[in-house]
Amino acid sequence: MIVIPGTASQVLAKEVASELDAELASVTCKVFPDGELYLRIESEVANEECVVVQSTPRPQNRNIFELLALLETLREEGAARITAVVPYFAYARQDRSFTQGEAVTSRVLAKHISLHADRFIGINLHKSAILDYFTIEANEIDASPELGEYFRSRGIEDCVVISPDKGALAMAEKVASRLGCEHDYLEKTRLGPGEVVVKPKNLNVQGMNAIIVDDIIDSGGSMVEAIKMLKAQGAANIYVGCVHAVATGSAISRLFAAGAREVVGTNTIPSQISFISVSSRIAEALR
Ligand code: R5P
Repeated sequence: MIVIPGTASQVLAKEVASELDAELASVTCKVFPDGELYLRIESEVANEECVVVQSTPRPQNRNIFELLALLETLREEGAARITAVVPYFAYARQDRSFTQGEAVTSRVLAKHISLHADRFIGINLHKSAILDYFTIEANEIDASPELGEYFRSRGIEDCVVISPDKGALAMAEKVASRLGCEHDYLEKTRLGPGEVVVKPKNLNVQGMNAIIVDDIIDSGGSMVEAIKMLKAQGAANIYVGCVHAVATGSAISRLFAAGAREVVGTNTIPSQISFISVSSRIAEALR
């Protein structure tokens, strides 16, 4: 097996290759003065099983183009089987047409990956339904257990795991199961005109250490609200975990300013909070 590193996932690709005892391909990627890309896969890939590891965070369209160009080149060079590992799948929040005429950009991306890959592997896709847009074998890895293990290793006592909304409740449940603690989600209740309270649906967090988990931290806005609400409910310390640290601008600082004690993410997007590696899970999926 040969692992082909995309420029957005160079360290993760190396980790995956090491875990699998696979060859790490040599790739040249240059940017011309006008912004166009030059790509060359220098390793011999004919008749080989090839795995491209390329995440698609900002600049999304550039990273996506690189991914597609690598896949197409592998096909042209005669690779036997091609797997596209896309740790962070861009456009996942546009999983459907919310209004007439809107482009379903996650579907556009899925269809184009399907043109040249034989298999797709993603991690915590914002909506799992995106898997149906692929016309090839498509699998999703759930990194919640890795988040759970991380917080377990921190030895946090008297804790509860909370998701900022119902959408991430399943994640909270899986993280909590690693910690052997309870989980819940934040629910918005309208008390009257202009009066809204946001609090855990079932649990009392007074005096508890709260671990808030979500799939994505982008602007940090959802997490900041969640931190404030849990503090207002009397939570002791607040820990924050996510899979994809999109972390736009000062998002991470905003979380600390709001009162988070610790903020962690995985390395699906390399960032200042990527303390958790998903390489073992990717290797496991590829074995
Ligand atoms: C939304 O449904 C996602 O799960 C995240 O909660 C959201 O994308 C986070 O965005 P932000 O950090 O900008 O609030």
